[in-house]
Amino acid sequence: MSEQLTDYKNSTKKVYIKTFGCQMNEHDSERIAGLMAEAGYDLSERPDDAQVIILNSCSVREKAYDKLRSEIGRFGSLKKNNPGLVIGVGGCVAQQEGKRLLGGSRLIDFVFGPRAIHKVPEIMERVSSDGRGVVEIGAPGDKMIDANIKRDNGITAWVSIMEGCDNYCSYCVVPYTRGREVSRPSNNIINEIEGLASDGFKEVTLLGQNVSSYGKGLSESVDFPTLLSKIEPIEGIERIRFITSHPRDLSVDLIDAMAKLSKVCEHIHLPLQSGSDKILEGMNRGYTYEEYRKKIDLIRNRIPSISVSTDIIVGFPGEYKDDFHKTKDALLGIGYDNIYLFRYSRRPNTAALSLDGHLPEDLKIERLEEILLMQREIASRKNGSYIGRSAQVLFDGQNSKEEGGIVGRTRTNKVVYVKGSRSLIGHLKEVKIVSTSFASLRGELLENSINA
Ligand code: SAH
Ligand code: SF4
Ligand code: F3S
Repeated sequence: MSEQLTDYKNSTKKVYIKTFGCQMNEHDSERIAGLMAEAGYDLSERPDDAQVIILNSCSVREKAYDKLRSEIGRFGSLKKNNPGLVIGVGGCVAQQEGKRLLGGSRLIDFVFGPRAIHKVPEIMERVSSDGRGVVEIGAPGDKMIDANIKRDNGITAWVSIMEGCDNYCSYCVVPYTRGREVSRPSNNIINEIEGLASDGFKEVTLLGQNVSSYGKGLSESVDFPTLLSKIEPIEGIERIRFITSHPRDLSVDLIDAMAKLSKVCEHIHLPLQSGSDKILEGMNRGYTYEEYRKKIDLIRNRIPSISVSTDIIVGFPGEYKDDFHKTKDALLGIGYDNIYLFRYSRRPNTAALSLDGHLPEDLKIERLEEILLMQREIASRKNGSYIGRSAQVLFDGQNSKEEGGIVGRTRTNKVVYVKGSRSLIGHLKEVKIVSTSFASLRGELLENSINA
């Protein structure tokens, strides 16, 4: 019997998937895993017991291609020991480089872009019959959105509501790798979320590069606030989140919908990028700092408990000292709960490449560090204001660093650690916050919420 079991185990094919980049890419990897599962592959935690390795690449920053090549290089010895090992590259570098990737490394067997994910099983068959060399890039409009998705946590789920981006911010490669913006019909989204609810999921995060322009180009008349109001009644779903909103397209209707719909969480990620109007113009962002600031004031007015996070780029071409100071002033003035900080990176095809005033790397790093230090203090202060308050937490996992510890998030997207039974994972509980750091909160379960 045990021998049979071992045989069975050995005969199971395995795929190892490594993901770089944003949530869209993470979510795409869940789709790849779903399709590979249909083709008979289990997910492997380690590359060394897999028959197929897939790297889902990101191209948002410089040297993405070099980094990818050195990643792949690490699998060279595995391939030497196991010539049958198949290595594929997906994601945004794959889209950008296409078949150049095959020429650049003998280790790569196939390449597929984000819009060709649905073809992965077919690609695998072609690789096994014809050998290496398959490249599938996919065209805009090629949809894989309804593909099978293998989510690894039964509590919180990403749901794609649109693909691509039409904004062409002057620094950004995404419109070139993900293609034009295409919204997904609302009934497909609702069906998927109803399915998630019946599978026991409690929270959905709607994904798109610019969710606030959802609905453009669809034959039905639907916008993002309407979509939210269609999701709100789905029984079993307790929380609705979304990323990312573009400040230019953030409407009063959306703010009203957020205030009115009880499941929409009190958190917004609204990328500012820079506090200087001159830099914002060079970035082609389509708003001024003042316009952005007014929207933040409006949101805070309507939803006082809201937490706000942002993306900031330092060292954009032409960012002189006073522009940098404007960004620092903006961060101090707005007081974000959290920021994602980047230093400007040259990307192929992008308009910013030809701007004057590119800055040296060490200056960019200096500015980055200055802002990091400043933001730590702001975030510590923000989190400190939670002490003594109670907050609703959805627990979604164990705390690997603490025996008997579990972790979850508040509606405002703060990470909260508590001591508590694993049976609470998947449940919403009230927690009293007892201490905080710049990165997370620590709480105690309130008496009446200790049992699941
Ligand atoms: N669609 C989202 C985010 C896309 S990429 C949005 O518009 O908000 C995530 C973040 O990466 C961007 O907000 C930006 O801050 C950063 N980023 C993108 N391209 C970059 C580049 N060339 N250099 C540095 N940061 C960049
Ligand atoms: Fe890039 Fe701008 Fe589109 Fe965001 S909105 S993905 S930063 S082009
Ligand atoms: Fe995402 Fe990176 Fe592509 S941020 S869209 S995986 S370039």
